[in-house]
Amino acid sequence: MNEQHADKKGVIAITGASSGIGEATAERLVNEGFSVALIARTEAKLLQLVEKLGEGSAYPFVADVSNYEALEQAFQAIEKRFGRIDGVFANAGTGASSSGIEQGEVKDWDTMLGANVNGLLYTAKASLPTLRKTQGHFIITSSVAGRVALKGSVYGASKWFAYGFGLNLAEEMREWGGRCTTICPGMVNTPFFDEPKEEKLQPEDIANAVVFALNASDSSCVREVYVMPTK
Ligand SMILES: NC(=O)c1ccc[n+]([C@@H]2O[C@H](COP(=O)([O-])OP(=O)(O)OC[C@H]3O[C@@H](n4cnc5c(N)ncnc54)[C@H](OP(=O)(O)O)[C@@H]3O)[C@@H](O)[C@H]2O)c1
Repeated sequence: MNEQHADKKGVIAITGASSGIGEATAERLVNEGFSVALIARTEAKLLQLVEKLGEGSAYPFVADVSNYEALEQAFQAIEKRFGRIDGVFANAGTGASSSGIEQGEVKDWDTMLGANVNGLLYTAKASLPTLRKTQGHFIITSSVAGRVALKGSVYGASKWFAYGFGLNLAEEMREWGGRCTTICPGMVNTPFFDEPKEEKLQPEDIANAVVFALNASDSSCVREVYVMPTK
């Protein structure tokens, strides 16, 4: 770790950091003593969050996760800024505006799969070389929608991909002492939905799961976390 961050717990890069689960996790990690790199498409929201968290602890990088070259540039810039990357929270994702297969729209699927499937793959491929140097941790936001059958849900299928991908990646990373955790949340109260979901999980509940996985003892890897709302 470079001198500027010698007092920090580690450096975690978060995709989808401009809102909801990613934003809450960034805040929690900074409170826990980590430095964070924030990746999303909306620059204004990232800059606002950096202002809140402090420039010494947070670094913004504007990128679309469906663009592999942009992610390569992002991880190079983050490594240059902080000297190392200890963890990546691959959390960016989006839903579909149309539901079902017959009524679904191909363009809508392309955008969603670009983020939820390709974006996850690209985030892993672009960050593994730097994570290997720190024997780092890769954390994925799948969903309960990736654990149950949902009528005609292409979104759910993208989260089944995330779930299976995470388990497979954990096997690949363990060869060099890296860890991979897949988090499957039920409904979370975030801007993902148009209406508030106050009775459901809060984004801070998922931030808790991320911290739990990161703080596991060196001899253990939390492979998956399944979090449902109490009600
Ligand atoms: N809310 C739930 O009930 C729930 C449950 C289970 C799993 N999840 C998953 O949790 C993750 C976070 O969702 P959330 O609930 O926190 O929703 P959110 O508030 O809508 O946040 C989504 C985040 O992903 C980013 N994003 C979307 N497409 C992107 C792209 N192509 N490139 C880069 N960033 C992109 C958004 O930022 P920009 O628009 O600025 O790029 C935003 O920061 C998603 O993977 C979602 O599928 C959510």
